[in-house]
Amino acid sequence: MKNLAIMVSGRGSNMVNIVEETKKGNIKGRVKVVISNKADAPALEKAKAYGIDTYTVLQSDFSSKSEYDKKVIEILKGYDIDLVVLAGYMKLLTKEFVDAYPNRIVNIHPALLPSFRGLDAQKQAFDFGVKIAGCTVHFVDEGMDTGKIIAQRAVIVDEEDTVESLTEKILKEEHKLYPYVVKLLCEDRVIVEENKIRIKEEDSH
Ligand code: GAR
Repeated sequence: MKNLAIMVSGRGSNMVNIVEETKKGNIKGRVKVVISNKADAPALEKAKAYGIDTYTVLQSDFSSKSEYDKKVIEILKGYDIDLVVLAGYMKLLTKEFVDAYPNRIVNIHPALLPSFRGLDAQKQAFDFGVKIAGCTVHFVDEGMDTGKIIAQRAVIVDEEDTVESLTEKILKEEHKLYPYVVKLLCEDRVIVEENKIRIKEEDSH
């Protein structure tokens, strides 16, 4: 069983999905703590409803990003966390944070990386006129959505789609992709090779 931390800034639908899959036993891990950088993130109440410990850490209470991340790392260490799952956490991580959890921090991004990094990725893709959009789960480094890609899922952009309907379609795929990748990580089946990620087959016995 791996100890998971989930970091959020908002709604928390990906967080809820992952918690549900751990509860069902589909993921060999348990969510020990949820950390938000926004006091009013709806995700916090949802986590509390599952009895999960929650923390709000505000950047405004710290003199630098480095001091902020030091506080976050201190909380994570207190829970003996194996895997840090960013789920709609809208803040870049410092090198200290990334180095504290090498290849053990993951993020979901609502676009087919390396296209459309950063904010409002679904709108960026829609406005660009792509015919295929999707989502990506990747390891986190200090860059913005630049870490190694673990897995992706695609959706077709139809003529009648709007930014809203496309965002919905992508979110549906996010809810399938993220628990799947977290499951793989909890089973140590994500192998980091020099330039890419390999997924190990499930043991047949
Ligand atoms: C999700 O669509 C996620 O991919 C996106 O924020 C949303 C969070 O929703 N993340 C990013 O854009 C990160 N760059 P949720 O709080 O309901 O999971």
